[in-house]
Amino acid sequence: MLFESAVRIELTDEEFRLLAAFIYDHAGLYFDGGSRFLLESRLQNRLKEHHFDSFLKYYHYLLYHQDRLAELNRMIDIVTTNETYFYRERNQLDAFAEEILPEMAQRNSGKKSLRIWSAGCSTGEEPYTLAILCSESGLFDDSWQVDIIGTDISQRVLKTARKAVFSQSSFRATDGEAIDRYFDRTEDGKYSLDDSIRNMVHFGHLNLMDEKMMGLIRECDIIMCRNVIIYFDQNAKARAINSFYRKLVPGGYLLLGHSESLMNITTVFKLKHLTRVMVYQKPEGTQG
Ligand SMILES: C[S@@+](CC[C@H](N)C(=O)[O-])C[C@H]1O[C@@H](n2cnc3c(N)ncnc32)[C@H](O)[C@@H]1O
Repeated sequence: MLFESAVRIELTDEEFRLLAAFIYDHAGLYFDGGSRFLLESRLQNRLKEHHFDSFLKYYHYLLYHQDRLAELNRMIDIVTTNETYFYRERNQLDAFAEEILPEMAQRNSGKKSLRIWSAGCSTGEEPYTLAILCSESGLFDDSWQVDIIGTDISQRVLKTARKAVFSQSSFRATDGEAIDRYFDRTEDGKYSLDDSIRNMVHFGHLNLMDEKMMGLIRECDIIMCRNVIIYFDQNAKARAINSFYRKLVPGGYLLLGHSESLMNITTVFKLKHLTRVMVYQKPEGTQG
């Protein structure tokens, strides 16, 4: 047994091609030849747990076994990159708080509702940061219905997000004052988010490539999808972005990560220059 766990199972060219295509078809995640070793490393434990001596057997399990859906979820937990932290990309968050939220508060003052979607939210730091910013803005009193939703394809990260207990690494861009205000220290040295913020965010399992499930998302005023489509190829990026377009109200905003853009993907959004950042806006007077 000891011997078995020390053996590294090699991912052949053909197995890599099959598994990479399988992951791409399901999640839009693109593994090029350079990421073969990464995939081989990340999936070693799955093979060992099933006592498989080849990746081909694992691939067949994913295709045909009665428990394939559970294994698919486990695999997705492993192959996704879930790096995130509170107050990531501060310039854009400042624009969100100082320019986008006031505009939305005015625009929606009649219906008094606001809907924000963090797509690819990982362990929740992003939508919780948005909740803190909405709360601190003072723009939305109790008469408003403010919905903030966080979705991700990985069940593992969503479990952490719902628990809302974080370790030090989530606070690399957070000042001490905000930590003191919104978090309690736990006995094991972690940080538990205050219920007043925690209850503002709802989480759901959603694969951005699953158009049927995407259909269930209600129209949003603001969609934030940062550091997610960098892992997609052009075709998968276009699919996700088209869905976001359909899910935004006219005049609604799409906020991508600082290294992401819609160049060569679509021209349907208007690029809007705010004071320090650029964001995408669905033009007024357009529909679905
Ligand atoms: C690097 S994290 C970004 C987290 C956060 N948005 C941020 O910028 O800090 C990328 C997240 O996208 C999720 N993801 C990847 N492919 C996805 C898909 N097809 N559908 C939904 N989420 C996906 C991953 O599970 C991961 O949690």
